[in-house]
Amino acid sequence: MRTLGLALSLAFMLATVACGGNSTNPTPSSPLPPPSTATPDVRADYLVSQMTLAEKVQLVHGGAALDWTQHTLPRGGAGWIPGIPRLGIPDLYFSDGSVGVGNSVGPATALPSSVASAASWDLNEAAKYGQVIGAESRAYGINVNLGGNVNLAGREPRGGRNFETKGEDPILAGKITAAHLKAIQGQFVIAGIKHFGFNDQETGRTTANALIDERSGRESDLLAFEIGVKDSGVQSVMCSYNLVNGTYACENQYLLNTVLKGDWAFPGFVMSDWDATHSTVNAAQAGLDQEQPENIYFGSNLLQAVQTGQVPQTRIDDMVHRILRAMFAVGIFDHPATVQPIDAVTDAAIAQETEEQGAVLLKNSGSLPLDKTAIASIAVIGSHADVGVLSGGGSAQVNPVGGPALTEGRPCPPCWAQVMWDPSSPLQAIQAKVPLASVTFNDGSNASAAAALAASSNVAIVFVSQWESEAMDLPSLNFTDVIHPTPINQDALVNAVAAANPHTVVVLENGGANVLPWLANVNAVLEAWYPGQRGGDAIANILFGDVNPSGKLPITFPASVNDLPRPVLATPPNSTTPFNVDYTTDAANVGYKWYDTKGLTPLFPFGFGLSYTTFAITNPQLTANLSANSLGFQVSFSLQNTGARAGSEVAQVYLGLPASTGEPKRLVGWQKVPLSAGQQQSVTVNVVAADSSHPLSYWDVNAHAWLAAPGTYTVYLGNSSRNLTTAGTFQLP
Ligand code: GLC
Repeated sequence: MRTLGLALSLAFMLATVACGGNSTNPTPSSPLPPPSTATPDVRADYLVSQMTLAEKVQLVHGGAALDWTQHTLPRGGAGWIPGIPRLGIPDLYFSDGSVGVGNSVGPATALPSSVASAASWDLNEAAKYGQVIGAESRAYGINVNLGGNVNLAGREPRGGRNFETKGEDPILAGKITAAHLKAIQGQFVIAGIKHFGFNDQETGRTTANALIDERSGRESDLLAFEIGVKDSGVQSVMCSYNLVNGTYACENQYLLNTVLKGDWAFPGFVMSDWDATHSTVNAAQAGLDQEQPENIYFGSNLLQAVQTGQVPQTRIDDMVHRILRAMFAVGIFDHPATVQPIDAVTDAAIAQETEEQGAVLLKNSGSLPLDKTAIASIAVIGSHADVGVLSGGGSAQVNPVGGPALTEGRPCPPCWAQVMWDPSSPLQAIQAKVPLASVTFNDGSNASAAAALAASSNVAIVFVSQWESEAMDLPSLNFTDVIHPTPINQDALVNAVAAANPHTVVVLENGGANVLPWLANVNAVLEAWYPGQRGGDAIANILFGDVNPSGKLPITFPASVNDLPRPVLATPPNSTTPFNVDYTTDAANVGYKWYDTKGLTPLFPFGFGLSYTTFAITNPQLTANLSANSLGFQVSFSLQNTGARAGSEVAQVYLGLPASTGEPKRLVGWQKVPLSAGQQQSVTVNVVAADSSHPLSYWDVNAHAWLAAPGTYTVYLGNSSRNLTTAGTFQLP
């Protein structure tokens, strides 16, 4: 094999010489192409040394102005960069997104929203989620996935993209995202993490100026990215539309060079969000490596800037090195994709598993699980539950396998995203569970008609839905029908049905947190998120107890919009003038940390979720490891399923830092444990100070580093951020 390699290299050299190398960068005569066993850096360096300046510029900008209506890109998707056949550099094909293969690339598995993946608290399940995105991207010949939205949903619970995130906590979001991204790259597809950084609201996203201090930024939004980058080896980062402390993210020296490429030693490349580039020289010098999707700043303008020395040759060489290195590291050179059918059956099963593991039982006063043997009539009401389940809008939108069950126009805002219902009917799945029962659908457009049906049924199941999308935020935390010309008042619908039947069950199809004004009037509530390609089946399995729900909230449900750090959404004065969004209000205290700091009681706390069985966490034992090179602690405890049916519990470990740090307790570890009825198991959660999540540290603005404060550390253990006991304390000198 070695001889063949040498012969090929020699042939390659001769070919290069025959082509006359290039005019602006004379081709060094000596080096042979390194063998494929060489490191990605060595292989990338070789190609950079062979490239002309024009070829380098070709790789650092998108290859086609997008015509969204025509989707004229070679393989669909959101972006494309032609390769350089002379050097064996393949094309790059970019497609969204965080919840499956998007952008109308082709029919793909509509996974449940990624916030459902986070709600599973199961990193193995999350890896399967990423596997679906990676495998289906590759099947379509897409080799860059624009997913990994890890913005913190807790900053703005009305955020239109919360469905694409992994919730409010940086450690849970970072670890879940890392599991997705690692699995995607395992399919020889470059994964991405976005939107770097602080893109935490959609309103005015291209001119919003996020204000945040150094320590708070490091301990919140940036920590989610740090974990995602360090734990996954992700090779691309997408900088965001907004400004951060007065400078656009895609030309923000602090974000791109100091933090990402400096402190975190990120070896991959930074691409802009689509049309989020604002300059040539500034952006290049600040660390942007690739303009997407066109060549407004990094095309001829960049070539000229390099030729005139405004941008050093070393900078464009570094840009190209990072891109090529990513392609080598992920295997795009060595494992070129061949377009083939997706494995829709396997992937749909994973979509169903994610929904079954991620749905959260919020309330159950006894109506659930439904008893197949005793039920004769069921009313199924609202949210097109007869044909499908809701999905989120925008660039993350997946065209489901089998085509959408229903599309409903383009609400304005955002005016361009379509409402799409995935073809998985809860009605049909429920009917299949009880073939002899009468299961009747009512569309919920008339509350009294729905109530009449409920009154004549053993149980009433109301599907309440909230569509959200990129480029918009929700008008409130209430369920607000932004789809229909004559909006359905879903809160009134639920109240009417609940008044007619004490066994009213509400299923939520939403992207994040909502207030539930009718909560006291209903018997049970199941949070199903955007349920995905097999959502109907998963929901029916849970409602009838064939699956015991085990999800835990990755985002706090506030009691009121008035409890938010910014009750009134900051809005832009116009479409061009930057406006401030002041994140120094909640600072690092995003989500549950905010409600803890303010002494506010949420409707449902972070980490909360019920089961059809019960669990007991007893006998916590804390062991601290105080030696410098293994600093951390272990908490061991007994976990028992004290109920009559199998189920899984998520035991959560929180840490209180010394009072001198002024910090509320934080999630530092967890374990999801399946147990059969009555089974007891000893569980140990390990927390290591050196973990990418810096669990024991605060960010010190003088040292510009993570430090562990001296003093007393308190370890909490429980099954929700608001249901904890003290497992013990330890001292750091
Ligand atoms: C969009 C989104 C980004 C997406 C990109 C390509 O504006 O902000 O998440 O990946 O453009 O569709």
